[in-house]
Formats: sequence, structure tokens, C-alpha cells
Amino acid sequence: MDFNPPSLSRREFCLASIVGAIGFGSSEQIMAATETTAQQAFSSSFLDVPESFGPNKVQFNKALPTDLRGTLFRNGPARMHRGDTSYHHWFDGDGMVHSFDLQENAVTHRGRMVKTDRSIAEEKAGRFLWSGFGTSFDHSETVTSADDVNVGNISVLPVGDEVLALWESGSPWRVDAKSLETLGRKVFSPETDGLPFSAHPRVDPQGRVWNFGYLSGTGKLVLYDLDPNGSINRVSVIDAPNADMVHDFAITDRHLVFVLQPLHLQEGLAPTLAFSDRLQWDDTGSVQVLVIDKQSLQIAHQFELPPFFTFHMGNAWEDGGTIRIEVATAPAFKPLMKQITQATTGRPMTDSPVQPQTAEIHLDLQKRRASIEKLPTSGADFPRFDQRFTGIPTEQLFMLGRSNDMPDAVFGFNRVTAMNRRTDSEAFFDYDANTIAEEHIFVAAPGSTQGNGWLVGTSYNWHHGRTSLSIFDAQQVQDGPIAEAVLPYTLPLGLHGQFVPA
Ligand SMILES: [Fe+2]
Repeated sequence: MDFNPPSLSRREFCLASIVGAIGFGSSEQIMAATETTAQQAFSSSFLDVPESFGPNKVQFNKALPTDLRGTLFRNGPARMHRGDTSYHHWFDGDGMVHSFDLQENAVTHRGRMVKTDRSIAEEKAGRFLWSGFGTSFDHSETVTSADDVNVGNISVLPVGDEVLALWESGSPWRVDAKSLETLGRKVFSPETDGLPFSAHPRVDPQGRVWNFGYLSGTGKLVLYDLDPNGSINRVSVIDAPNADMVHDFAITDRHLVFVLQPLHLQEGLAPTLAFSDRLQWDDTGSVQVLVIDKQSLQIAHQFELPPFFTFHMGNAWEDGGTIRIEVATAPAFKPLMKQITQATTGRPMTDSPVQPQTAEIHLDLQKRRASIEKLPTSGADFPRFDQRFTGIPTEQLFMLGRSNDMPDAVFGFNRVTAMNRRTDSEAFFDYDANTIAEEHIFVAAPGSTQGNGWLVGTSYNWHHGRTSLSIFDAQQVQDGPIAEAVLPYTLPLGLHGQFVPA
């Protein structure tokens, strides 16, 4: 994959390599060989990704509900190859922001790479210059600040006419919501210039934005309290154990909750080593749960749980004297990282898929006791809920899972689940086994009661090389999409998004 002959596109080159590997035979053999295999399913989405997509208007197969109008913004790693260098880990790719503008019968799609300082320097150099989250380059240049290596590739925060492209260890990047052109690095204030602003901010029902940033190796977390327009109310720095990698957090109406894992940054290793290779999982350690008072921005309670790994949280709320936090867990960090590397590079999976499990953490504030309980759902990750009720009880939790027939060789998910937290029941829809589903976002119907609306999400059919946008009735997920639009191309498999109603 490090050599790209000028006469072939990278996709053609890879396909030709497969043909070459089996030897040229009959035309039927060649046709069969050029099909993407399950092993290549994930990595195939990152071949030949252009600098931008669209605008392209694509018809839905059915008209959309009249009150479903607006724009889905998504972000994700997109550029994995530059010159003679390639990333080996999904999380390393340069960010690309997409917009899916919904009309009555059609969607207009745009996509554009986020022009970070890093990507500008690497474009000039014609190759990747720095090691990343999961890729080590021996030639890696020295990192002088987090924004040297910021790829702006995880999620988005729409603010006014802009969309902030979020990474988790550095600054957001301002992107024009219409053209998706990058407008520059976001500086909230001189005091916070260059501080990390993580990729999973939480917006409370009043529109106030809460977020954090972690400073690996310092034992500190930065806390942010922002106005709905993105201006800073307060910033605070707290001491936090186990805060060397923190991807997500949760809020209730009174508290911020951090679930901090026994994942520790090792000192004294080569500075060119990828970040994830410098993290060590401590099986004998514990998960530290910090409960921060929103008024004082100080630690109000601290709990301990046995070790488990998590990237994402669903909703959280207070139920009498108990805080409940929905959390997508995985047994361990390193096996998951290994699988992501194998998927990103198209290598065979050496282990069966890591089985994430959704759970609920209970924090009894009076008795000062913490426990974690598995939830009866096949939904595993990318939890979403009705965000109008962030921090207060929600009945529906939407996630992705894997169908029984999804090949083990394919990394990711193809099931969309809707779990009813009141009845402990779930409904789900399985895309076919040749499809990888991406995050599906709950979009509330205007003026509706909780949980009424749609799920809007993208999926990649690696067999046909096409990405689709699907709309589900959130109350009838099992019935499958009520409308679908198939884009005339593959989009690189991405991470998170937000919907902005018209
Ligand atoms: Fe995430």
C-alpha cells in the first residue's frame, strides 16, 4: 500500500494487487478477485478519498416526513494515505466534515477535508510528518504542541453559522456550515488558547455547552462551561486520577460525571511512538468515577469500580440519591486497538470481534456505593438518545450492534438498536451482512414528546462500494428505513455527527 503507480488509482492498484496475488486467470476469476473481500471491507472505504465531495443532490426512494428538515453534519478520519506514508489506525486519518442537507425528496451531500495546520504542512511535504494516535513513524517530527498533530477528525459541534470540527487533544477547527471550508483554529479565549477541547461536548436542555479536555501525563482535567453561542462562561482545572486518555463524559442536571480508566501514559518511551502504544492498561487498577458539582466545578463525590474500558456514554441522570450513567463498555483497550489496526490496514482479524456491552453505572450518593450492571440489549456502542433530555431521564437508548451473520472478518456494526429503558426491551434492524453501519442519530420531531422522531444515519455497503443515508422512525426501528438515498460513491467510514434542524 506504500507504492502507488501513477497510472492506477489506489483503489485500482489494490484491486490489481489482489488479482496479481492469485495470478491472472479467466475473466470470471478476475471479476471475482476484484470484489472487495470481508477482510478488506473496512479499509476499502479509505481508498481514493478526494479532497472534497459534492455538492451532490441524490433522490430518496420515498418522500421524507414534512417536518424532517435540516442538516446532518458528520466528521471522521478520511485521509489515510499521503505519498509514501500510510496510517495504520482508523483514528489517525485527517478529518473530513460532511453535510447532508435534507429536502422533501432528496439529500444534498457535501464533504471537505478539514484544513488543519498539520494537513497543510503535510500537504507541502507530500507525506505524513508526525506519528499519530495509533501509527508510529520513525521519521516523526518533534511535537511542540498538541495542535501540531491535531487532525480534527472525531465529531462536530454546530455553533451559529459554523461547525466546529472536534478532536480530543487540541483545539477545534472552525468550518463554514454551508461551504464546509475551514476558517481556522478556534480560540475561545487567550487563556484557553491551545488547550484540549474534547470531541463529546454535552449540551443541556437550556443550550449550555459543557466540555472537558485532558492533559495526558499531568493528572489534570480542564472543564468548560460555555454559552449556547460558544462563548466561555467558566473554565476550571481539576486534579483527576486515571485521566491520561478520556474520550467522553456525561452530565446530569447537577453534575458532570467522568469515568476514568486504569490506562496510564508510560514515561521514557521513544517520542516517535504512537500515543496508544505509550498507554498501558493496568488490570489490577480500578475505574475512578468523578462526580463534579456544576456550580463549583469541584469534585463532589468519587467512586471506584473494577476495571473496564469505555469510549462512549449515553445519557445520565439523577434518580433520588442515585446517579445513573449509560455506558458502552469493552473488556480491554489493547485488543480493541489491535482490531482497529487490522481493520484499517485490511489485514486478517486474528481474534474474534471484541464484544462491547452496554451497561448502567449506579452511584449511590448517600451510601457512597458504586456498581455497574449490564443492560439487556445487543446494542454495543455509538449510544445516542433524545438530546432534548440530556441529563434527565430518557426512555430510549439508540445504539449500534452486530447481526448474527456479520462476518467476523468485518470490523464494526451493522445493527441499529432501540432499547426501551422502562420495559428493558429492544427493537432492532439489521442491515445486510455486506454493510457497515455508522452512527445513527436521534432527531426529534418538532414539538413532540420524548423519543418521538427519527434516526438518521449512514452506512457503507462494501460489496457495492456505496454509502447510503437512511431514515428510520425512531419508534419503529424494526421496520427498517422509511427512506433511503444511495450516494454515487464511497465515503470513508467516520465517527460522530450532530443534526441541525432547519
Ligand atoms: Fe467518540
